[in-house]
Amino acid sequence: MSEKKMWGGRFAERTAASMEAYSESVSFDWRLYREDIRGSQAHARMLAKQGFLTAGEAETIVKGLDTVREEIESGTFEWKVEMEDVHMNIESRLTEIIGPLGGKLHTARSRNDQVALGFRLHVANRLSEWRRLLQAVVAEFAAQAEAHAETLLPGCTHFQPAQPVSLAHHLLAYCQMFMRDAERVEDCLKRVRVSPLGAAALAGTTHPVDPQAVCDDLGLDRIFSNSMDAVSDRDFVLEALFCGSLVMAHLSRFCEEVIIWANPNFGFVKLPDAYSTGSSIMPQKKNPDACEIMRGKTGRVYGSLMSMLTVIKGLPMTYNRDLQEDKEPFFDADRTVRMSLEVMAGMLPGLSFIPERMAATMKKGFLNATELADYLAAKGIPFREAHHITGAAVAHAEAAGKGLEEFSLAELQQFSAAVEEDVFEVLGYDAAVRRRTSPGGTGPESVAGQLAAVRAWLA
Ligand code: ARG
Repeated sequence: MSEKKMWGGRFAERTAASMEAYSESVSFDWRLYREDIRGSQAHARMLAKQGFLTAGEAETIVKGLDTVREEIESGTFEWKVEMEDVHMNIESRLTEIIGPLGGKLHTARSRNDQVALGFRLHVANRLSEWRRLLQAVVAEFAAQAEAHAETLLPGCTHFQPAQPVSLAHHLLAYCQMFMRDAERVEDCLKRVRVSPLGAAALAGTTHPVDPQAVCDDLGLDRIFSNSMDAVSDRDFVLEALFCGSLVMAHLSRFCEEVIIWANPNFGFVKLPDAYSTGSSIMPQKKNPDACEIMRGKTGRVYGSLMSMLTVIKGLPMTYNRDLQEDKEPFFDADRTVRMSLEVMAGMLPGLSFIPERMAATMKKGFLNATELADYLAAKGIPFREAHHITGAAVAHAEAAGKGLEEFSLAELQQFSAAVEEDVFEVLGYDAAVRRRTSPGGTGPESVAGQLAAVRAWLA
């Protein structure tokens, strides 16, 4: 380190090498170069509008920054750790290119509002990408649901076989989760798309800045209201990380189900080769690695959220260098959320469900037991008693190794005299689904309605 630091006016001693390595952020925040340059260009145009720079000077700065971006994108830019972060690397290169005029860019601005702006632009960009990918995932769930409107799945509570549902209904439950996730991202964007530029270090500035002009130039939604909040607020990162965490939670739940369903003891689904792996020692194996990795990566995103919550918990106002720790957790979470959604959208159409296997488990699980109890209740038997009668019938069926529907009328009548020939109309597993006509239930009308609503949401 031979050059003086940009902030080095009052410093007589050099920065310790270990301190330089410890405090630098350019090794990861270089990813903000596009947003930093966009923010600086908007700032320069605002300074010209306010009469602080001539139009020609602003033009020179804007063009100089374009050159810096081209250098970065063509790989000729030399990132310098001694320049600490992306902001100072870019500004110092700008000054090399256009001369002392480059030094005027930082007028009425601090790195505190500068980094907040760059990061907000970045997070907003990533959230828009998440929203797009969430739509893709919802579309794939909807397509599978459409293909399986007639497929029966043993629905579970407590992971015990409970009542038959249509596979479509099960898959549409995930559509609801991911649609909520997309809406949450959309809502979060309202609070991310706020321009903090003009807050300066913490107190505002003596220069006649026009924060609204910067905001309009960048196409953001609104400007900050309090300069101290503007430079110290990282709620937007936390909210984004929470949105990402919930996306991962939902993905992970489905992954867990696929992993279980793909186990040959269930055999409900066959995995696409493109998203599974084999074993190096057991030739018969086909492992659901994509789902396992996704389930595992969920922890990283939760970790990022926890990490950020911890970073801000004891911070006095306003900007503190601790806040530099907001970037790596977000970059890591962004990569994880984005790739997970991509993999899910790619894998979903390749899952082939096996209706016969699902049907075969209905009998073993006595999934029509509720139907018998409801049938008896409809014949006037108090439901609690109907429940007992059905329980006794299940115990007998279990001992006899058959399903309730395999009893004869006479056998069923031994449990209750109220049983008549029409009992067989309700004991069919498909009838259990068909007859659930309550709103939002698994009946065909509700499922068709849900599917139409998802399609409308997608359009
Ligand atoms: N790299 C810093 C960060 O990410 C930029 C802001 C530094 N501001 C300061 N006053 N040192 O937070």
